[in-house]
Amino acid sequence: MMRTHRCGDLRPEHAGREVTLCGWVHSRRDHGGVTFIDLRDTAGIVQVVFSVDIDAGAHAAAQGLRSEYCVQVVGRVRERPAGTVNERIPTGAVEVAASSLRVLSEAETPPFQIDSPHEVDESLRLRYRYLDLRRARLQDNLRLRHAIIAAIRRFFDAEGFVEVETPMLMRATPEGARDYLVPSRLHPGCFYALPQSPQTFKQLLMVAGLDRYYQIARCMRDEDLRADRQPEFTQLDVEMSFVDVEDVLDVTERCFKYVWREVMGVELGPFLRLPYAESVERFGTDKPDVRFGVELQDLGPVFAASEAKVLRSALEDGGAVKAITLPGRGSASRKELDALVDEAKRLGAGGLVWAAVTQEGLRCPLERHLGEDEKRALVQRAGASEGDLVLIVADRSRARVDKVLGALRTRLAERYGLIPETDPSDPAHWRFVWIVDFPWFEYNEDAGRWDFSHHPFTGVVEETLDNLESDPGKVLSKAYDITLNGWELASGSIRIHDRELQKRVFAALGISSDEAEERFGFLLDAFRYGVPPHGGIAPGIDRIVALAAGETNIREVIAFPKTQSAQDLMTGAPSPVDAEQLEVLHLRTTVPLEETEA
Ligand code: AMO
Repeated sequence: MMRTHRCGDLRPEHAGREVTLCGWVHSRRDHGGVTFIDLRDTAGIVQVVFSVDIDAGAHAAAQGLRSEYCVQVVGRVRERPAGTVNERIPTGAVEVAASSLRVLSEAETPPFQIDSPHEVDESLRLRYRYLDLRRARLQDNLRLRHAIIAAIRRFFDAEGFVEVETPMLMRATPEGARDYLVPSRLHPGCFYALPQSPQTFKQLLMVAGLDRYYQIARCMRDEDLRADRQPEFTQLDVEMSFVDVEDVLDVTERCFKYVWREVMGVELGPFLRLPYAESVERFGTDKPDVRFGVELQDLGPVFAASEAKVLRSALEDGGAVKAITLPGRGSASRKELDALVDEAKRLGAGGLVWAAVTQEGLRCPLERHLGEDEKRALVQRAGASEGDLVLIVADRSRARVDKVLGALRTRLAERYGLIPETDPSDPAHWRFVWIVDFPWFEYNEDAGRWDFSHHPFTGVVEETLDNLESDPGKVLSKAYDITLNGWELASGSIRIHDRELQKRVFAALGISSDEAEERFGFLLDAFRYGVPPHGGIAPGIDRIVALAAGETNIREVIAFPKTQSAQDLMTGAPSPVDAEQLEVLHLRTTVPLEETEA
């Protein structure tokens, strides 16, 4: 064994013991005949003392040490003299008096300080990810990720689920994003797709009689990236047979509660449940952050016959007038208010009407168009009091009103500190919500057709099935999401298990039977052989871990993530390839090598 203990594990009870440690030189301080290094390993940091009095040879050798050298130290643990105890680290009551030092490998000066208290430029961090990962924050995040995944596996194992691996090279399936394609060498001109999720395979496992499946599954989607989106990510993928909505919700909720109890030490209460329509009506989104109020209020009834034309005409055109009220922001400056109007416009609104409730009455750009009754009703319906600021959006599209106000609500809550500061050990810190009763279809204005809002295999709420051909907007799906503090954590549904219904749904989506046969023939074929009613869900592991770790970007919980532009700065992927490699794959690129953007 190269070591007897780990640096971060030493405590006063080890005093007097000779130990051998291995680790990295975190920092070095010289005080005349004494040299201190902070030695770091995966368990933490401990102070090592080299002095001529303890061992002149070791002290001399320590003079050559630089940051991030990898070393082995032999020494005796001793309690630190009174007054020199470091309360900030768990090993702070002890130090190791070094009698020997061996440099295992030297290090060049790192491109950034591992213990830097300042934010390090992210591209530098990603370029040298192996150094970035030496930092405590990322080590903690990866350990938390491991603990969460380990707990998930324990939970599903105990519930009788079987973990099955599904292929990485598959046929393209419709999950809504763009596929990553892999050219086939053996089949010229043909491509595999990397899985956007194991959706079709898990359904086929149900046809196969596996009954209860789960997998910690890698998924690949070529989509625009954001703080909560990576091109490669990980799902906890789940599917069950002979179940309906409540069964999947039950198992999933218990899994989250188990993980939070085991890993975070938090006893979660029952998850809130909101129908999609209510969530959008109250919070402007299907990913509501319910840790604070500031709900959207419908001001329609106030302005139906208003002199204020912008408001009235939105209603006449079948749209909506809604508002949010920001407590205590009524004294906002003209400049701030103008900035809010611009922000609303950038979010897609035609404009924003603000109304400040002051001691003298309502301050509002539309004031002279509003009657006294109207003003009173506005304040009342908006739930505003003196000192508050009401932000009103009117539009002929109700959906746009909800979207803009929903986005403003979350942004401004953060900006103005409206989200209560809770401790992660407090169950109120974790406001899980089930969103249920999603519409099956969403209208695609650009393409002028109805698209699926979850995926084409999603079950239909029976009572709404009659609308499938006549009024698709009224069809509800057996889909459900979990959201947490404004993030979508999981999506799932009960699936269609009836071949004829599946065909009807394809038709409603404008997918011809030939096309359906061509794209999903394998699934439709399987559905000829006795399909159990089934359903499942897929929580996103990266998002779960990021929220549990208190991170705002999932990159911080992925060992080797990609940048916003889908690059791996460390390995340099994606990169051009040799002409011969392309040749073998029967490919030719239209971009000349010198113009590649890698
Ligand atoms: P969906 O596409 O909603 O459903 O994905 C489920 C969950 O996966 C996570 N997720 C992502 N995480 C990081 N980066 C991404 N690019 C990304 N895309 C999705 C989210 C999301 O809630 N097969 C269905 C599930 C089912 O019906 O069972 C599916 O994949 O947390």
